[in-house]
Amino acid sequence: MFSLARFRYRLWAGCLCALFASPSFAAELPRLVQQHGRFALFVDGAPYTVMAAQLHNSSAWPDTLPDTWRSVEALHANTVEAPVYWEQFEPEPGHLDTTNIDALIDQSRQHGVHLILLWFGSWKNGQMHYAPGWIKSDPAHYPRALDAHGEPVEDLSPYAASNLQADEKAFAALMRYLKQKDGEQHTVIMVQVENEPGMIGGIRDHSTAANAAFHSKLPSSLAAALHRPDGSWSDVFGTDADEMFNAYGISRYIDQVAAAGKAVYPLPMYVNTWLRYKGKHLPGDDYPSGGATWNVLDLWKASAPHIDLIGTDLYTTDYGEFTKVVDQYARPDNPAWISETGDEAGNAPYFFYVLAKGGIGFSIFGVDNADDTPALQAATAAHARNFQLVGAMQRQVAKAAFDGRLLAAIELRGQPKKTLDIGRWQAKVSFGAPMWGDAPAELPGNPSADGHLLIVRQTDTEFLVCGVDARVEFERHNDDHRHGQLLRVEQGSFIDGQWHMQRLWNGDETDYGLNFGSRPTLLRVTVGSY
Ligand code: DGJ
Repeated sequence: MFSLARFRYRLWAGCLCALFASPSFAAELPRLVQQHGRFALFVDGAPYTVMAAQLHNSSAWPDTLPDTWRSVEALHANTVEAPVYWEQFEPEPGHLDTTNIDALIDQSRQHGVHLILLWFGSWKNGQMHYAPGWIKSDPAHYPRALDAHGEPVEDLSPYAASNLQADEKAFAALMRYLKQKDGEQHTVIMVQVENEPGMIGGIRDHSTAANAAFHSKLPSSLAAALHRPDGSWSDVFGTDADEMFNAYGISRYIDQVAAAGKAVYPLPMYVNTWLRYKGKHLPGDDYPSGGATWNVLDLWKASAPHIDLIGTDLYTTDYGEFTKVVDQYARPDNPAWISETGDEAGNAPYFFYVLAKGGIGFSIFGVDNADDTPALQAATAAHARNFQLVGAMQRQVAKAAFDGRLLAAIELRGQPKKTLDIGRWQAKVSFGAPMWGDAPAELPGNPSADGHLLIVRQTDTEFLVCGVDARVEFERHNDDHRHGQLLRVEQGSFIDGQWHMQRLWNGDETDYGLNFGSRPTLLRVTVGSY
């Protein structure tokens, strides 16, 4: 006998099975998606915020991993960034050693985190120290870049086909291995191609091949992309010609390495940048010449189309400096991505700034640092608090960043008040007020000026709010002669994507603004009018 209820159940169960068995869903590759000038890193089919712990990467061999996991867990990171050293991966030409990669992937899976691999190939911090011995000891075949006096520097020439081919081949082999080992599970979500590329010890390569290219016209496609006239590098760029030329040589080289890898396994790929900031302005000396610094960023974007995004290695706690760099790189053709930041408590507030700029993530460098000093413990606690707060609603935050629905207030010393506009509402944020009771007329700010607050606009009248050492009061524009009120303030958390209320806030906890201390607290606030 036909039963409607049983039929409905079968239909429902069938849909559910189809959803979970769907190979297209399970097998969807991580990808960077751009829409309306905003970005999201899609992992398992949905926007994902990277909250990463990067190993102290100069000598991060598997033996160091057991200790590292404690730090990764303490930080509440959802992603680990770890290097693959060319010299270890290909100790002899064509002989591959996957031991380190296996350990990284297997242990990341055991610890339930994603992994971003960093390819230390032709460049690491503006030099070539991680190239295999067989490359380093054969400069006749794998030539070095030359400085202005014709002396070799510790960089491979970006104008030597043999260098490029060797790196391309090794990187493609790495991606082939990743596809084979991880092509279904996608533990590895992104790959950094090289590390802080550029040249130290000179502004540009002066090898014979490089000189010939420098004295020719710059490619007309590049001139067109940069809205420059045709002409030689010197004609077009004047005193910046050497740096622009080196940036072109290096970005083209790295783009081809990335393309070789993507042809095998097209994960999102990025380049990280040793920045031109903090007053540093001498290419080749203050910072590697030809890396993706802000002054050559347009050129990088035009000449490295296989690089999905450019990351920033941002080592400052200074508000003006940090926010300036984020603003330089958060553009319609590039998302904010803090590929490295310092393991300092003072860096933690900027995570919220990056998110509110639509950023895809934030990575803390050197988490496995052996010195367990009070400063490092404070840094871990500060970053961990933010990662824990955002981690509980990570998918919602990533989607809101993609949609442009995030707002943040970061404390700037001497300016303890900040107003955020949310449609008809204003969030009046202040720093240094007590946890309840009236604020003094002169707000002192927090002693370390490290207050910060994040708002996720769910609807016009519902907001998720979390913060550290901050007070927020919601005020409504009453141009329509209506008054605002807090309808409901729920403290709670997300469990498996579902909101769970723990308690309602009212009385002393709402009459003096909503106050956040150092304990991780998440509120769902509903406002209304009368
Ligand atoms: C930036 C580099 O990318 C890292 O590999 C490491 O050397 C850090 N600097 C050290 O501060």
